[in-house]
Amino acid sequence: MSIDRRSFLGLAAGITAAAAVPGSAAAASPATAATLAAPMRRNIPGTIEALPVIGMGTSDTFNVGTGADERAPLAEVMALLLQTQGSVIDTAPSYGSAEVVTGDLLKAAGGRNRVFLATKISAPAGAPAQAQWARSQADLHTGKVDLLQVHNLIDWRENLRWLRQLKEQGKIRYLGITHYREDAQDTLAQIVRSEKVDFVQINYSLAERNAERVLLPLCQSRGVAVLINRPFQDGRLFRTVKDRPLPPWAGEIDCNSWGQLFLKFIVSHPAVTTAIPATSKPRNMADNLGAGLGRMPDAGQRERIAALLA
Ligand SMILES: NC(=O)c1ccc[n+]([C@@H]2O[C@H](COP(=O)([O-])OP(=O)(O)OC[C@H]3O[C@@H](n4cnc5c(N)ncnc54)[C@H](OP(=O)(O)O)[C@@H]3O)[C@@H](O)[C@H]2O)c1
Repeated sequence: MSIDRRSFLGLAAGITAAAAVPGSAAAASPATAATLAAPMRRNIPGTIEALPVIGMGTSDTFNVGTGADERAPLAEVMALLLQTQGSVIDTAPSYGSAEVVTGDLLKAAGGRNRVFLATKISAPAGAPAQAQWARSQADLHTGKVDLLQVHNLIDWRENLRWLRQLKEQGKIRYLGITHYREDAQDTLAQIVRSEKVDFVQINYSLAERNAERVLLPLCQSRGVAVLINRPFQDGRLFRTVKDRPLPPWAGEIDCNSWGQLFLKFIVSHPAVTTAIPATSKPRNMADNLGAGLGRMPDAGQRERIAALLA
């Protein structure tokens, strides 16, 4: 299904309109139309730069060929993301063609300066990492990215040292480290304690809450920005709730879908800067972006969401 700008704005307006209907769930609190229509943002700690809490990943979903039929829906997905200035796009040179496709679509949309572009280094430190970075710059059609991350802790000591040099040279704006499994989070926590990193990218979702224990509070206290990967457990969360109706109280936090409940659970954690769900479908992108709008769950509502999957 194709969603154009007007439909997306309609989606946001729908939430606003619901708030105006006496007796509707959305009318339960005095949220203003302005609060509802503006996507929530979080500051990169220690800066005045605020990122929208919903961004986008690209692994698998942007790993397509050159055919217009394959790329057209992704161009729509990109166009929806570009409506919000400064949205995060996360890619990697190891995601098949995803980095090339990201670069091509951004170039075609003239969107490079509208996004916060993040990619990764997964090659061994030294010449292989440098060659990989040179390819990323060519594939992304840009000499500079906003965030360069050491992917899955590969050669992290040496690669981090080099990323620091790139930052000093002004070739990247921020540096970070990533992983996608909970068993890597103790190591990530040690790195956050002992090294200066700007961003950590980790897995966190309703089904994987280990990060709440140590890593998220630690990042918050040390002023490290946090990107959340696998917010839907690579789609598994949707299969868990298949055929289950949305709880009626979802409207109290302006959620129209399970996806929005899953995402609002994540971005309402105060340590989270941005979640980066991946999608190949404009309709799902609009749905995901809706999670950055309207009221967010408080601590009690977060536990109510969590109990749905307990
Ligand atoms: N080590 C690392 O650094 C690392 C590891 C893993 C992931 N990541 C990053 O994190 C991003 C996100 O993680 P992920 O790609 O593993 O998985 P994910 O975002 O948890 O889930 C993606 C899946 O959810 C589906 N989906 C998305 N929005 C939906 C919606 N509103 N309703 C229904 N289905 C929806 C997508 O299908 P459709 O295409 O049909 O919408 C896709 O199958 C990656 O793309 C990547 O950029 C980084």
